[in-house]
Amino acid sequence: MTLISALAGKHIVLGITGGIAAYKSALLARLFVKAGAEVQVIMTPSAREFITPLTMSTLTGKPVITEFFTANTGEWHSHVDLGLWADYFVAAPATACTLAKMATGVADNMLVTSYLSTRGRVFVAPAMDLDMMAHPSTSRNLATLEADGVRIIEAASGELASHLSGKGRMAEPAEILEVLERDAAHGCRLAGKHVMITAGPTVERIDPVRYISNFSTGKMGYALAEEAARRGASVTLVSGPVTVSAKHPSVNVIKVESAQEMLDAARRAFDTADIAIMAAAVADYAPETVADAKIKREKQPECELRLTANPDIAATLGAVKRHGQILVGFALETDNESANAAGKMARKNLDMIVMNSLRDKGAGFGTDTNKVTIFKADGTSRQYDLKSKAEVAADILDAVDE
Ligand code: CTP
Repeated sequence: MTLISALAGKHIVLGITGGIAAYKSALLARLFVKAGAEVQVIMTPSAREFITPLTMSTLTGKPVITEFFTANTGEWHSHVDLGLWADYFVAAPATACTLAKMATGVADNMLVTSYLSTRGRVFVAPAMDLDMMAHPSTSRNLATLEADGVRIIEAASGELASHLSGKGRMAEPAEILEVLERDAAHGCRLAGKHVMITAGPTVERIDPVRYISNFSTGKMGYALAEEAARRGASVTLVSGPVTVSAKHPSVNVIKVESAQEMLDAARRAFDTADIAIMAAAVADYAPETVADAKIKREKQPECELRLTANPDIAATLGAVKRHGQILVGFALETDNESANAAGKMARKNLDMIVMNSLRDKGAGFGTDTNKVTIFKADGTSRQYDLKSKAEVAADILDAVDE
């Protein structure tokens, strides 16, 4: 039986840059073509020193693009059209130079220009010398790209072209193929579903200039919204004040400030939601009264703030949950993690809870990474490694999918 690849019929722009690993790009192009994808190769001028355009055009059945236009005919190669055409943009190998240009938008060649025009999924497979790989500037650029939604296919460790040994070998073509196939397989599993997500902190006013809040940045909730939208869902993102923004056109952001406003918006959206994910860090308390005018220190050397407990949004939705609706919560814990998470899941009538512990480095507020354990109402649980928040979002939606 021949299995049909999830990449069949997909459009892939394969960007090749000037590194010795470019020889592996031929094999990668061949694997993509064999999987049934249409492949358009873009090479940077220096990539052509490592592998010939003839090799790549023969393997893909399409002329390779390097320049913005063909010199003798004046034919313009539209990076805009390519960007719209591509379901996937894969830079493999991605040199330190190209990663830096992609991270900062230096659009001085066809590859970076097309990247900036791409609406599809973007992957990079870095390959370089171990010291370049370990350099803070490379780490910075990779972190920027990751925050921009680019998936990094990690370089492996081993012997490098320099004969030094360390991290910097491009991932093997078969591995890159597998990453894309897995991604494509999850492509539209949530098609037609309505997913509601709460994200960010809530802000509880004390007076016109002061408030109570917490350190949540909204990154986890926004990553979930992007991933759900990419899988075909229409997403309602009820968001407290954050600086991150949603890019996917299927994400409808409803901005709120307080826990009460978040509850009102979440209840409305929950009516039609198939799945609700509570990723917001809702402030537990709000001032009992909000002063109309600024509280003055001179007039009030001592100021007592009376707080009242905020409504529990997850528990409120849990109480009205209909058969078939899936409700997912988060639990950020500092101790007794598993027991606390399981207790919250039961108390709030959740189907699944995503626990992260502040004891784990790289987990929790403000980081670009997270390390989670997912507990399900059926008593099963699974621990995950430290990953980017985009990857954690994919794991959470996979778990919902199951
Ligand atoms: N949550 C909510 N509304 C609240 C408080 C929490 O919807 N007022 C949701 C969070 O979005 C999260 C889950 O409930 O999905 C657990 O949040 P957490 O702050 O860990 O739990 P609390 O119930 O507030 O318990 P505690 O802070 O005492 O640990």
